[in-house]
Amino acid sequence: MKRFWSLFFILNLCLCSLTLQAQAEEPKISEQTQECIGCHVMATPGIVSDWEKSRMAKITPAQALQSPEINRRISVTAVPEAMANVVVGCYECHSLNNASHKEAAFEHNGFNIHTIVSSRDCAVCHEVEADQYSHNIMSEAYANLMHNPVHKMLVDSINGIQDFDGSKTILNPHNDEITDAESCLYCHGTIIKVDGKVTRETALGEMEFPRLKGWPNQGVGRINPDGSKGSCTSCHPRHSFSMAMARKPATCSECHKGPDVPASKVYDVSKHGNIYKSLGTKWDFDAVPWKLGTDFSAPTCATCHTSLIVDSAGEIIAQRSHQMNDRSPYRLFGIYAHAHPIKADTSIIKNKAGLPLPVELTGEPASEYLIDAETQTTRRQAMQKICLGCHATSWVENQYKRLEHTIEQTNAMTLTATKILATAWEKGAAKGLAQKESIFDEAIEKMWVEQWLFFANSTRFASAMGGADYGVFADGRWYLSKNIQEMADLLELKLALGQDKAAAEKKPAAKK
Ligand code: HEC
Ligand code: HEC
Ligand code: HEC
Ligand code: HEC
Ligand code: HEC
Ligand code: HEC
Ligand code: HEC
Ligand code: HEC
Repeated sequence: MKRFWSLFFILNLCLCSLTLQAQAEEPKISEQTQECIGCHVMATPGIVSDWEKSRMAKITPAQALQSPEINRRISVTAVPEAMANVVVGCYECHSLNNASHKEAAFEHNGFNIHTIVSSRDCAVCHEVEADQYSHNIMSEAYANLMHNPVHKMLVDSINGIQDFDGSKTILNPHNDEITDAESCLYCHGTIIKVDGKVTRETALGEMEFPRLKGWPNQGVGRINPDGSKGSCTSCHPRHSFSMAMARKPATCSECHKGPDVPASKVYDVSKHGNIYKSLGTKWDFDAVPWKLGTDFSAPTCATCHTSLIVDSAGEIIAQRSHQMNDRSPYRLFGIYAHAHPIKADTSIIKNKAGLPLPVELTGEPASEYLIDAETQTTRRQAMQKICLGCHATSWVENQYKRLEHTIEQTNAMTLTATKILATAWEKGAAKGLAQKESIFDEAIEKMWVEQWLFFANSTRFASAMGGADYGVFADGRWYLSKNIQEMADLLELKLALGQDKAAAEKKPAAKK
């Protein structure tokens, strides 16, 4: 009898694994998608094979919904019936919400499709992620730059073409979408617009496509033809749509590496970054939920800012967050570091001086637009709970004390630079807002920008995330101190020259 049951068990196992294999080998693909693939294995073979390797090509939404909540990778409770029992293929994504894509939707070999699959389309199955992302500052990165007159002035002063008239430079009016698209908007995101239609000869005959302007682009605050914001492909490149990839620092480093935003450089040389580089190949980047200590032994960007983390007993340490600022009490980036803005759209902020900035030029916060002390505490605790999975309380508290101290110190060094610049404006050694001129185009103004944008930011980022060099000699305190001296010298020189010039102009007048 025992033997019978064990034979039965073995037979059952075989049958099970056969059906499982059959399921794994033959995921159900919709008829429409089969047609897309029929052509696209020839037209764009790279896209088809990326998709074939992705999870979405292997698991139907109905199967995904059966996973226990903690392991689930789709966040809706139900998907439209037509999509539930087929894998998410070309047709399923590229035909979603066609009507809202307006003129970006087009007739393509018998199908109505659109090329841009937007964050709103992904929301059909990943509603929670898309909703959280809309509270992430990244989703507003276009407006935060281009709809803020002060920030736009910065864009113009960097991307505008300059002339020289024999004695002084002239900054031409700037309105060059192509330059903006590959400069600031590469990361912040473009507006994608449809600019008529184009008929092209393809490998499979003549076809008509909408002509997309501002594309390609994968900026985090991209404005899509359906009006939705952001591009999920900035961290989950199509068509692999990999979560493991988004958990690795290389993904974030694409945009977080410049002297203005050196999070990735800082992380690279931090102890955490070192451990990741040395041991990371042995970690499990695919596990959901992500088990601290078991799956990884030091944090990546995602661990601290985004991921769902559990301990070895399966207790939740941190919830997944595509909002990504719900563990950040501060906005470190800026003229001065300050409490985090309440809304992702920072272009709505007005300080007392009437400028669209979260601080006065003298550093006082525009508090009504910023989170209160209580929210700061909740967010600090949420981040610290992650640290405490691997560190003791005193380690973590001392580390935060240093960060808070560094915020004060770097804000003070920005204030000193601002006083020098304000004196230059007052005494006519430079032209600023009072003269209705750019505050970013003259030499002394550019030095002031470097003071906060490069050196203060770098010092703060190094303090928050490790990487001592970036707080000292590589864009850190050395430059914070040197730059102030150079600004003061330049001001002195300009004022002296100004006095000489005024005196020279006065002399002939006196002779008359
Ligand atoms: C008869 C063959 C054929 C079929 C069927 C087909 N495609 Fe295409 N598709 C092409 C070719 C060829 C191109 C052009 C590639 C190029 O630009 O070089 C193309 C281009 C595209 C583009 C890019 C459009 C742009 O803006 O440049 C998308 C997106 C696309 N196809 C999606 C799909 C989807 C989704 C399906 C199924 C619903 C599908 N295709 C079915 C042949 C086909
Ligand atoms: C700035 C980078 C970034 C952007 C942009 C981003 N994600 Fe993610 N995403 C991540 C990270 C990091 C993880 C891993 C989270 C974890 O470890 O729990 C992730 C995980 C996921 C997962 C798998 C986990 C799950 O079950 O939710 C889905 C699905 C997902 N993202 C969807 C989206 C969608 C949809 C968008 C666009 C609205 C988007 N993501 C935009 C970084 C990003
Ligand atoms: C999960 C949704 C999803 C699925 C499934 C999907 N796509 Fe896409 N596809 C996208 C997204 C997102 C983009 C990026 C558009 C953009 O730039 O924002 C894209 C872009 C494209 C492009 C233009 C990219 C380029 O580099 O020119 C083509 C062509 C395309 N897809 C074809 C396909 C084909 C063929 C399949 C099936 C094998 C497929 N897609 C499956 C979401 C999807
Ligand atoms: C029709 C439903 C549907 C749509 C639309 C959809 N997905 Fe998914 N997605 C799924 C399913 C099903 C899975 C696999 C879930 C699982 O493995 O349990 C998945 C998994 C994922 C994952 C996790 C992959 C991993 O490696 O763990 C990411 C990231 C993701 N999708 C991003 C996107 C993005 C970005 C879009 C829009 C361009 C999108 N999805 C559109 C159903 C969808
Ligand atoms: C395609 C470019 C791009 C990628 C990739 C990217 N980011 Fe960002 N990120 C930005 C931009 C641009 C902003 C600033 C938006 C603004 O201020 O308007 C930003 C802002 C942030 C902020 C500040 C949020 C705040 O509320 O203060 C954090 C944190 C952040 N990103 C983390 C990440 C992480 C973690 C990853 C990788 C998983 C990542 N980013 C990937 C471009 C990117
Ligand atoms: C390589 C990617 C990248 C490029 C290119 C880029 N930025 Fe950014 N930008 C970022 C990131 C990342 C942040 C967020 C930093 C943070 O919060 O720590 C940011 C934030 C900003 C902010 C703050 C906006 C807010 O929320 O208030 C301004 C202003 C800004 N950038 C100006 C510019 C200008 C001007 C250009 C072009 C000359 C530019 N950026 C180009 C990545 C980029
Ligand atoms: C050990 C945890 C940890 C890791 C790992 C980490 N960060 Fe941070 N990050 C922090 C803390 C703490 C802060 C400061 C919190 C605040 O801004 O309130 C911060 C701040 C930031 C900011 C500044 C947001 C602002 O206020 O302007 C950005 C952007 C950022 N991190 C991106 C990244 C990127 C990209 C990586 C990976 C290359 C990374 N972080 C790795 C903990 C971490
Ligand atoms: C998954 C485990 C893990 C998490 C989570 C983690 N760390 Fe670490 N951290 C480590 C390990 C391991 C080291 C190396 C310790 C050593 O070599 O003595 C380290 C080193 C550090 C160091 C370097 C100290 C020095 O002087 O070199 C600092 C600072 C630090 N962590 C702060 C933090 C903070 C703050 C957080 C949360 C925002 C955090 N860590 C989250 C594992 C972690």
